[in-house]
Amino acid sequence: MDTQEMIDLCKKHTMYTWSAGDAVSPLPIARAEGCYLYTPEGQKILDFNAQLMSVLIGHGHPKVIAAMKAQLDELIFVYPQTATAVRARLGKLLADITPGDINSFFFTLGGAEANENAIRAARLYTGRHKILTRYRSYHGGSYMGLSLTGDPRRWPSEPAAPGIVRLMDPQPYKFSFGATDEEKTANSLEYLEEVIMYEGGQNIAAMIIETVTGTNGMLPPPKGYLEGVREITKKHGILLICDEVMAGMGRTGKMYAFEHYNIVPDIVTLAKGLTSSYFPLGAMGVSDAIADHFRKNVFWGGLTYNSHPVGLATAEAVLHVMMDEGMIENAAKMQAVVRREMDELQRKHVSVLDGRVLGLFGMVDLRKNSKNEPLAPYNGSHPAMAQLGAFFRKEGLFTFTRWNNFTVNPPLCITPAQLREGFDIIDRGLELTDAAFEG
Ligand SMILES: Cc1ncc(COP(=O)(O)O)c(C=O)c1O
Repeated sequence: MDTQEMIDLCKKHTMYTWSAGDAVSPLPIARAEGCYLYTPEGQKILDFNAQLMSVLIGHGHPKVIAAMKAQLDELIFVYPQTATAVRARLGKLLADITPGDINSFFFTLGGAEANENAIRAARLYTGRHKILTRYRSYHGGSYMGLSLTGDPRRWPSEPAAPGIVRLMDPQPYKFSFGATDEEKTANSLEYLEEVIMYEGGQNIAAMIIETVTGTNGMLPPPKGYLEGVREITKKHGILLICDEVMAGMGRTGKMYAFEHYNIVPDIVTLAKGLTSSYFPLGAMGVSDAIADHFRKNVFWGGLTYNSHPVGLATAEAVLHVMMDEGMIENAAKMQAVVRREMDELQRKHVSVLDGRVLGLFGMVDLRKNSKNEPLAPYNGSHPAMAQLGAFFRKEGLFTFTRWNNFTVNPPLCITPAQLREGFDIIDRGLELTDAAFEG
C-alpha cells in the first residue's frame, strides 16, 4: 500500500481523537526503533515526546518483545477470576518497587480506567461521595476521567459526574497565589482548608492530583505543597490519589514522582510508562488499609481484560529493562542537559518565556511580547505556533506544540547527543516564533 492510500483509508474509515477528521494530517509511520520513528519513505524522526509521553524505554526493545512473544506462546487470555504466574510475579514486583504501604494492584487497560476505579474504591472505602480535583489537570477521556479533568477537553462532555469539586492549582494560569514557593504553598493550603470547610470534610472521599502536572504545564508542585496536602487530607480522612499515569514510572528521574516530595498517597494510578505503551495496561495501587477493606467487602468494579496476561508480561519486562539498564538514573542525569539547552534557548530567543524540566519531563512556554503575554491564548492558537509545529515535522522532530508551548519528553534512554540533535532543530524553529514577537 502506498503512503497516500494508507493515509486516505485511515482518514476515510477510522476516527481520530480530539479532532475533526478532515483537519487531521496523520503522520505516516512504518516502524520505530529506540528514539526514532521512520516514515514509509525512510525519513528518520526523532521522538522528542515518546509518542504520548509514554514510550519510556524507547521503541522496539528486543527484551520486551521477546517477553511478549513468550507470553503469547504460554498463555494469552484467561478471565479475571484466575491466578496466573505472570499476575503473581507482577503484583509482587510492583509491591516491591512502590514505596510505603501500597502493596495491592488492580489492573485496567489504561489511565482513565485506573482513575475511574480509584474514585470507585475511594467512595466505597470511605462511604463519602465528593471528590476534590484541580483545574490544571487531565485525568482521562472517559466520562469520569473528563469529570475529574480541569482543562477544556472536559467542556464538550459536561455536565460532569456529580460530586466533583474543582480547586485552583498552587500555580494557577493567571492569578497568583504568591511570588515565592513558600507563599504559593501557604496560600494554597489555606485555600484547600477553606474549601474543605465549605464542602464538609466528612463528605469528601478523595482528592486527586497529578503529582507533577502533565499536559497542563509540566508543573512540579511548589516546595512543601504536596507534604501539606498529604497532612490536610489525612487530618480530614480524605484519601489522596496521585495520578502518575504520565509522571510515574521514571519520567521525572524517580520511579514515582511522589518520591521527590517524601509523601505516599493512599492510591496511585499508573498506565502509559507501565508498559512503555507496548501494550494497553493501567493499574491502581492501593494502601494496605484499602486492600484489607476490599478483602472483606466487594470491590464493585471489573473489566473483561482485567489482568490481561500479555499486558502484565509486558509491564514486567518493561520494569526490568528500565531498572537493569539504568533508564531512571539516565532521566535524572539528562535533566541537567535539558536544563542547559532550555537556558540557552531563553538566552538566544526573545519569544522564549520559560522552560521547566524535572527528569525528562519538560515544557517550554513562548511569549508574544515583553509583557510576557503567552504567544497563543489559553486553549487558543497562533499562526507562529502552527508554523513551529510544521517546521518540527519537516525537520524530523516529533513533539507536541499546543497553545503557547511545546514539550520535551523523550524516551528515558535518550543520549546527550540525541538531545542536542533535537534542541538544534528547536533552536532553528524558534526563529519563526521570534519573528512573531511584538516587542
Ligand atoms: C495524568 C493522566 N491521567 C490519565 C490519563 C488517561 O490515560 P489513558 O489515555 O491511558 O486512559 C492521561 C493520559 O494522557 C494522563 O496524562
